[in-house]
Amino acid sequence: MSTPPKKAATRRLLPGLSVKDGYTVHPFDLKYGVRTSGLIAGRHLGVGHAHDKHNTAYYGVAPSVLKGLVKVWRESGPLGSVEETTFVDIGAGMGRAVLLAAEMPFKEVIGVELHKTLAKIAEKNLARWRELGRARTSMRVVNIDVLEFEWPSGPCVAFLFNPFGAVVMRRLMLRMAEVFEGRQGELDLLYVNDEQEVVIERQKGWKRFFVGKIHRSREDAIADHRIMANQPEGEYASTNSEDCSGWRWVGKERS
Ligand SMILES: C[S@@+](CC[C@H](N)C(=O)[O-])C[C@H]1O[C@@H](n2cnc3c(N)ncnc32)[C@H](O)[C@@H]1O
Repeated sequence: MSTPPKKAATRRLLPGLSVKDGYTVHPFDLKYGVRTSGLIAGRHLGVGHAHDKHNTAYYGVAPSVLKGLVKVWRESGPLGSVEETTFVDIGAGMGRAVLLAAEMPFKEVIGVELHKTLAKIAEKNLARWRELGRARTSMRVVNIDVLEFEWPSGPCVAFLFNPFGAVVMRRLMLRMAEVFEGRQGELDLLYVNDEQEVVIERQKGWKRFFVGKIHRSREDAIADHRIMANQPEGEYASTNSEDCSGWRWVGKERS
């Protein structure tokens, strides 16, 4: 008697990560053999955490925008040199921003990601980056909610690509103020697609050193337009630039 053939194992993908759902590969992935493409709406990223409902979406930052904003930061007179500063990507997703930051000589690059599958994909991408010899510094991803993150000592730059809504943003501001009390200048914030900028404006202790648009390279603009045109639910838009801002923690007594 023959046994029926085993069913081929089907890999369950998150919505937004299959061609049927409009998945389009960004040239960054093709060039380096990593996996950072895809647009996943926040409502598909639930992990049973109280902050799930505030999750905006997964989407990798345009490499040209991250590099443009880091250049602005370097020219803004931060307290520490790049070599003395830890880069923290708040809401790291599949780790595209972590990979890009690790090409620079930061003290360390850390990605903080709430979603387990995204964090696992990011870890694989980090391994690939090391294999390619592209990482100039140590890098890691932690699979936790942003409020659980243990901020390292020394100067830090926090990168946010619009990861969550106002509620979590306000909680993060309170947490940062607590951790960095007495550490004036040791925390800078780089915010891409800065929808909750007003939340920062209303907090004591922050000084804005940059506000403006950072333009995408031609390659990134074409890729992002194509991805947006193919998205399954048609709810996001792409322009040729991102609204960005940069903030420095000067301490409550100095603002
Ligand atoms: C727009 S993506 C940015 C990805 C990455 N920073 C980049 O630029 O390539 C935002 C990410 O933030 C994550 N996120 C949302 N809320 C979070 C929270 N409370 N704690 C940690 N990560 C969170 C989402 O799961 C998503 O992967």
